[in-house]
Amino acid sequence: MDGASEALLQEIEQLRREISQHDYRYYVLDSPIVSDAEYDRLLNRLREIEAAHPEWVTRDSPTQRVAGAVAERFAKVPHPGPILSLGNAFRLEDLRAWYDRLIRLDDRVRAADFVVEPKIDGLSVVVHYEQGIFTLGATRGNGEVGEDITQNMRTVRLLPLRIPQSPDGPTPPKRLVVRGEAYMNVADFDKLNQRLLEAGERTYLNPRNTAAGSLRQLDSNLTASRPIRLLVYQVVAVEGVIPTKQWDLLKYFKDMGLPVTEFAEYCPDFEQVLAAVERWRELRTQLPFEADGIVIKINDLRLAEDLGYAGRDPRGAIAFKFPAQEKMTRLLEIGANIGRTGVLTPYAVLEPVEIGGVIVKQATLHNFDFIEEKDIRQGDRVLVKRAGEVIPYVIGPVVDARDGSELPYQPPTTCPSCGQPVERDEGEVAFYCVNAACPAQLVRNLEHFVSRGAMDIVGLGIRIVIQLIEAGLIKDLADLYAVKKENLLEIEGFAEKRAENLIQAIDASRKQTLGRMISALGIRSVGEVLANDLARYFSDLDALGRASVEDLERVEGVGPNTAKAIAEWFARPANQEVVRKLRAYGVWPTSRSRSAGENGEHASGEARPLPLNGLTFVITGTLPTLSREATKALIEENGGKVTDSVSKKTSFLVLGENAGSKLDKARQLGVLVLDEAGLLQLIQEKGE
Ligand code: IVH
Repeated sequence: MDGASEALLQEIEQLRREISQHDYRYYVLDSPIVSDAEYDRLLNRLREIEAAHPEWVTRDSPTQRVAGAVAERFAKVPHPGPILSLGNAFRLEDLRAWYDRLIRLDDRVRAADFVVEPKIDGLSVVVHYEQGIFTLGATRGNGEVGEDITQNMRTVRLLPLRIPQSPDGPTPPKRLVVRGEAYMNVADFDKLNQRLLEAGERTYLNPRNTAAGSLRQLDSNLTASRPIRLLVYQVVAVEGVIPTKQWDLLKYFKDMGLPVTEFAEYCPDFEQVLAAVERWRELRTQLPFEADGIVIKINDLRLAEDLGYAGRDPRGAIAFKFPAQEKMTRLLEIGANIGRTGVLTPYAVLEPVEIGGVIVKQATLHNFDFIEEKDIRQGDRVLVKRAGEVIPYVIGPVVDARDGSELPYQPPTTCPSCGQPVERDEGEVAFYCVNAACPAQLVRNLEHFVSRGAMDIVGLGIRIVIQLIEAGLIKDLADLYAVKKENLLEIEGFAEKRAENLIQAIDASRKQTLGRMISALGIRSVGEVLANDLARYFSDLDALGRASVEDLERVEGVGPNTAKAIAEWFARPANQEVVRKLRAYGVWPTSRSRSAGENGEHASGEARPLPLNGLTFVITGTLPTLSREATKALIEENGGKVTDSVSKKTSFLVLGENAGSKLDKARQLGVLVLDEAGLLQLIQEKGE
């Protein structure tokens, strides 16, 4: 091998080591030390060299985390040792009985210490390392033979492709086969489902099913997009020397870069185990993942081995199951919630039932297809599950408990909140209410409109939003800009200062960029990034609204569905009204006003004179909805000028209540007088 090749090979090795270190810091320790850009640079350099030298690509190279070809089916793989399950305990007495039995069997147990670990509700996986290299990943299967899911496991970021991950970690045994649990965090599960819901796709039932479903995808590209996690806790087979205590083993795993639970506890004696169990009853809801119990293990693995098996369950460990989180109750009625983008989500109104210490009266039914598939009827007895922080959900009906009085369910054809017809796009699971003025949607829409990534109106939380809507002050997004201090003072909890601050915050949001405004409208599939791209392309909301589906598809990142969603949004009369009002209220950012010229060549909104060009206004008295500042801003944004006193040059006097001498002066000079509505009309007519 020549010198250049030698150097490249060294570089490859160095890159792989570095990237794997960064993976470990990022995914396991949660404390990265390089930027994403730097990480990408390393990975790209590695890809570059490997592309030039395919013969150097190794299975443990970080570039091999990518998903591979779509599999036809999973190959069967025998496990090197049986993948067993555990005996269960449901009460503290059961645990004591287990312990007493063990002592009778072997007196050494009296002096035993223990390790307590959460029993994660995921799926068992078996992971093989040969000479420290990840070679095989398998499902549990029937405990003796599993399915080869190596390609999918490769996409699980927490799984080291080579151990030790860090150069100062322990040297791994020649062969090491470990068992762990693949799972998904509840928060990740919720996020994933939210994303699927908004995209109109089928949602998952619970984190466990999602993890299992994702790992059994024949297309590993899909697995790669799912936030699957892994915790390793047991050795299935080994050639080499490893720790003989569970507590030491967990540390050994960790030192090698294998992910282990941070929630394990060491208990020096059995009394401590009982205390830990008590604590865990409370702790369980605070875990980031679903746990259906805790596992109590004798720390000395040799002693555990000597204790043998009861049937197929090893005696040296036991699962203490948390009280059932599943109950049967009657489904009284099916209702539907409306989300921000108008998606209808069905929920069950239940005969109240206590599950895990909480009274449950409602549970989600996921989507309308789920109801149909499970044939869930109103009046049915249903199984309801509450797990961790997940919203309680209906598992399915207890068909045997039917007495014939149950009513089959039809998805609503009109929105339960506003009564307008609901729509379902072809090929989508979700039903939508497309009425922008739907009150239920309005709450969600406004919540989004004022949020930090959108118009960022500080101090306007959901409670106030609901109050404003209930008080009839707001019927669509634009009405927010017509709210006045006096209106707020009539709402409970508003004093002078708070009302003033809120009005100021609303006023300040008029200056937000066009990108934020587009994002704030809550158009389906248009997030912050895309909104900014659109703002670069179109000069203002009118230009965007005039764009055809074909125009829109020319913008990078806009696919056919998104283009359609945007065009449909602007085609709706209620939304057109919102846009018209925003303009009239002077909430009208443009790309040009932000950076003149920069976007000129893209902007399809042709330049034309502003409606109030050349006109001079004087404002007097209190207008019904607009504040003095807002009126001034509105006139100026539309090209007009505002002065303080009426003269021959004044084009219009804008007149509110309690006007003073200015009205007399205007009459004297024959200046035209407008009220607020007249002003808005003038802007609109001149703008057309
Ligand atoms: S030890 C010989 N530890 O719970 C059995 N199991 O029946 C060794 N599980 O399906 C299992 N977390 O997949 C063990 N920290 C943990 C666990 C755990 C979850 C699952 C395991 C098995 C079931 C026990």
